[in-house]
Amino acid sequence: MKRVAILISGGGSNMVRLVEAMTGDCPARPCLVLANVPGAGGLARAQALGVPTALVDHKPFGPDRAGFETALTAELDKAQPDIIALAGFMRVLTERFVTRWQGRMLNIHPSLLPKYRGLNTHARAIEAGDAEAGCTVHEVTAELDDGPILGQARVPIRPGDTPETLAARVLEQEHRLYPAVLCRFAAGDRRPLRVP
Ligand code: GAR
Repeated sequence: MKRVAILISGGGSNMVRLVEAMTGDCPARPCLVLANVPGAGGLARAQALGVPTALVDHKPFGPDRAGFETALTAELDKAQPDIIALAGFMRVLTERFVTRWQGRMLNIHPSLLPKYRGLNTHARAIEAGDAEAGCTVHEVTAELDDGPILGQARVPIRPGDTPETLAARVLEQEHRLYPAVLCRFAAGDRRPLRVP
């Protein structure tokens, strides 16, 4: 059984779906939900689900990313995860940290990578006149929003869509895709999953 630490910065809707999926035949169980933002809504949601939580606020570290990651690593070492799942974790991680976890760290990104790395993905897809958008689960490597793709889900972009309406449609698919990919990944299956 693989132990999974989930890193969040916000409401944690993906985190909830991951935790809920880690039962039964899924060969993974949550060992920690860690946030870098005090008051992140996901912390209370994780506690309500009975998952241990930790907070490592990045702010006191200022630009000292290595210092922040040392504190992060101390919490992770206590929880002993086999896999880290980034779920709306909005800090860029250093190459050193990523290298340590390479092959064991996943991320969900709200675009059809390799399109639209970084922020404001939905506004950029609408602005470009794309016919479809979606989300991608990928292994984390030192390059931002790069790394082997483990799964993608697509949705149409409809006339009149705003970044908000599109984000909501994509988020529904994130909630289906990420749990499915995580359980496959924990079972050692890294073949890309395509939904629907
Ligand atoms: C999700 O849409 C996720 O794809 C995105 O943040 C949101 C978190 O929502 N992640 C990124 O943009 C990472 N660069 P949640 O807290 O409700 O899961």
